[in-house]
Amino acid sequence: MTVTDHHAQVPAPVDPESAFSTKQKPLHTPLSLTTELDPPGADRLGLTHEEIKQFREQGFLIKRGLIPKETFAPFHDLWWQQPPVKSANLDPDKPSTWIAPGRFWPTENRWSLPTNWMGDGAWPSPEDERPGATMGERVGRLPHKLTRDVGNYVWRWHGIGHDPEFVRATSAHPNILFMVEALLGGPVKLPRRNRGIYSVFPRLPDDPETKLGPHMDANMTEMQVVTYLDDVEPRSGGFTIFPRSPQLLYPTSEQAHNWVATDASSDAMDYIKANIQPVEFCGTAGDVIFCHGWVVHSAGIHEGDRIRKAVIQDFNRFRERGHMRWTAAGKNGGDRINCRMDGVFEISADLGDDPADGMREVTNQWIMDSNEFVRSRRAVFDDMFEEWNLGERPVEGNVVAETPWWENYDLPLLPKGSVPRGGGGMPAVPLSSIADYEGDGRWRVKTPGRY
Ligand SMILES: [Fe+2]
Repeated sequence: MTVTDHHAQVPAPVDPESAFSTKQKPLHTPLSLTTELDPPGADRLGLTHEEIKQFREQGFLIKRGLIPKETFAPFHDLWWQQPPVKSANLDPDKPSTWIAPGRFWPTENRWSLPTNWMGDGAWPSPEDERPGATMGERVGRLPHKLTRDVGNYVWRWHGIGHDPEFVRATSAHPNILFMVEALLGGPVKLPRRNRGIYSVFPRLPDDPETKLGPHMDANMTEMQVVTYLDDVEPRSGGFTIFPRSPQLLYPTSEQAHNWVATDASSDAMDYIKANIQPVEFCGTAGDVIFCHGWVVHSAGIHEGDRIRKAVIQDFNRFRERGHMRWTAAGKNGGDRINCRMDGVFEISADLGDDPADGMREVTNQWIMDSNEFVRSRRAVFDDMFEEWNLGERPVEGNVVAETPWWENYDLPLLPKGSVPRGGGGMPAVPLSSIADYEGDGRWRVKTPGRY
C-alpha cells in the first residue's frame, strides 16, 4: 500500500476512523500474562531496571493494583443503569443474564444524545434524508456503540470517557500520571477524555469462537494504556498485544509524531502477525498496562463467563498541534473525503456533486483525547525513545493542561440539558463552519489560535 502522494508532498488523506492492518492472519495463540511473568517492580510506582529494559525492547509494561479498586465503585453503579444494560435486562446478581445481551439490543440506537446534528437536528438513522450527506452515510461514533465482534457482543461506552469525575478516577489518577511521566516524560498532556469503558460479554455456547483482530490505531497517540475495572482471567477478553511490534513499526513511519504508513509498514505488520506470539493482559481491578502508542493490539479471546470491563486510554506529550483530523461525508453520490495533513479538503467535481457546497457533514474521531495533527512533520528518530524518559529523570509532576480540542473549536461534545451523564458526543457540523472555500474544489480548514 502506498499512502504518499509525491505530487503534493503531503501524505494522502486517511479516514480518521481507519486502523492500520494487513490481510495476514495472526498465526500464534496468546500467552496469558499473569503476575508470575511480571518483571520485579510491578507492584509499586516507579521503574526498575528490568521494567525499563522490557519497555525498551518489547514496548509494554504492567503495573498491578495501580488504582485502588474502590475508586471504580460509582462507575460500576452507573454502568448498571445504562441503556445497553437496562434494555437487555442484565441482573448484577444473575450471571446467566450477562450472556450475549446483544440479542435484546435494538439494531440502531441513538441513546443519550442531544438534538444537535448539523446544529439542531436529531442524529440521523440509516433511512433518514439528510441535507448534508447521502442517506445511510455513517454518523460516526455514538455514546453507546454496540457491535457484534466475532462471537462476542461489545459495548463501547464512549460517552463516559468525557465525564470529568471518570477521567479523574482513571486517566488523570495521580498514579497513572506518575507512570506516564516516568515512561513518556514530561511535559505530559493532562488527559481530558479517554475512549470510555469497553465491555465484552460472554458468548452463547453455539456462537463462533472468538478470534483475534490485530491492528494498530493509526493516530497521534504516544502511549496506549488499558485499565481493568474488574478481574480478567486467562481467555476472558484480556487486552492482547504483540510485544516488540512498536519497535518493528516505528522505523517504517514517514513521520515521528503523526503515523504515516509506508510499504515497509505493511511488511512489518505481516511479519508481526506471522512471527510474534501475542500476549493477553490478565489481572485484577486496578491493574494497568502501558504500551507504546504504535503497539499492534486486539480485543482478547473471550471464552469466559464474566464481563470484561476495561478503560481504553490515550496519552501524549504536551505538543504544538495544528488542525483537526476531519472527515466529510459523501453527498450526491460522491465519496467520503478526508482532510489532508496540510489542512486541505480536495473535492473533485464529479457526479454533479458541487464542490463548493459547504452543507456537508463533517465529523472527527471524537473518542480520542488528542485529535489534532502534531505540527512537527519531522522524520522518525534513530532511537525511537529519543524523547522518552524511561526512568532517566525523576518524576516531578510535569503535567500541562492543553485546551481540549472541543473547546478550541467550540464543539458541543459534552452532555448538556436533558442529556444524562455518560451521554453526549460530537455531532456533524457543516463543512462551511470549519473551512473556507478557495475555489477549484479546495476547502482550507481553520486552525483556531492556541499559542
Ligand atoms: Fe485499536
